[in-house]
Amino acid sequence: MTTPTIELKPSSHPLSDAEREKILAAPGFGRHFTDHMVTIKWTEGRGWHDGQLVPYGPLSLDPATNVLHYAQEIFEGLKAYRQPDGSVASFRPDANARRFQASARRLAMPELPVETFIEACDLLVQQDKDWVPAHGGEESLYLRPFMIATEVGLGVKPANEYLFVVIASPAGAYFPGGVKPVSIWLSEDRVRAVPGGVGDAKTGGNYAASLLAQAEAAVHGCDQVAYLDAVEHKWVEELGGMNLYFVYGDKIVTPTLTGSLLAGITRDSLLSVARDLGFEAEESRVSIDQWQADTANGTLTEVFACGTAAVITPVGTVKRDGAEWTQSDGEPGKVTLKLREMLLDIQRGIAEDTHGWMHPL
Ligand code: PLP
Ligand code: COI
Repeated sequence: MTTPTIELKPSSHPLSDAEREKILAAPGFGRHFTDHMVTIKWTEGRGWHDGQLVPYGPLSLDPATNVLHYAQEIFEGLKAYRQPDGSVASFRPDANARRFQASARRLAMPELPVETFIEACDLLVQQDKDWVPAHGGEESLYLRPFMIATEVGLGVKPANEYLFVVIASPAGAYFPGGVKPVSIWLSEDRVRAVPGGVGDAKTGGNYAASLLAQAEAAVHGCDQVAYLDAVEHKWVEELGGMNLYFVYGDKIVTPTLTGSLLAGITRDSLLSVARDLGFEAEESRVSIDQWQADTANGTLTEVFACGTAAVITPVGTVKRDGAEWTQSDGEPGKVTLKLREMLLDIQRGIAEDTHGWMHPL
């Protein structure tokens, strides 16, 4: 694997301080982008080349570019946080880099070296560090690395050219309600992913495929969809963009990685954070009927969703065909809030980073 150098070609017209401050006062999620981006090309026979940090701007693509037709695309999501001393640190970029490589293998794309992935993210954050929101709140700078097939032609085959790009966006709460519980529609017929498919790869097609079920959730008055396994339509897998955790008193349980759900980095981090805080934490299969029955009998005390964009979000109302119930009286549960605060404190540099997760820039 070649490790390209990244040439710095910064913008001579970045946004003014006043315009940037206005955006940072209420960034929302994924609505505003920083002044720069990093691009690196890959060509068969040559490997990775032409790494550049350039002003943020449109990509010019031939209408017959492969990705526009056959969706050979992968992406990642990670965050950089302002630390108490004013410096900036990102959270587990090595884990995102390795997952990006795993997604690339599944989509028959070239693997970007871990160190190049991290360097590209670091250079962008360093260049646009004024875009990292202030310390103390929940805001952060969300990084979106992605790779697309750029070969021109309509043949269905792995492309011989690719473009890797990293863009960055200041991020506030993913859900406008903040830590307000989200409502969940349990989809018993539409599935997100199948065994042997691409459910454990972070590829755009998974999200396109989830939109109809998401729209159906809205018709049922719900914010999000929870998907079941595609074979027995019984085992709870995940939401469209988040993993799930079930809280049984002092024990938290998350669905086992079966190959059809995404190995979330927040999910993985919480297994450790929970154990550090004295909770039991396990990976296990959870059925939809067990979810309903254990809520009714009071053993399942809280449910929450987790992911980079959404951090930790409590689940409130749950609906499935013919039934509806509410977790923890529709309030954020105390275990959910405790885990959320601990994870955020590590990310914000308030709590000690005993796992070596923070990557200073
Ligand atoms: N599941 C899906 C389908 C996702 O898109 C995400 C978001 O990245 C997650 C789970 C959570 O993963 P992570 O915690 O790495 O952000
Ligand atoms: C993330 O949490 O980083 C994701 O990619 C989820 C996406 C739905 C915003």
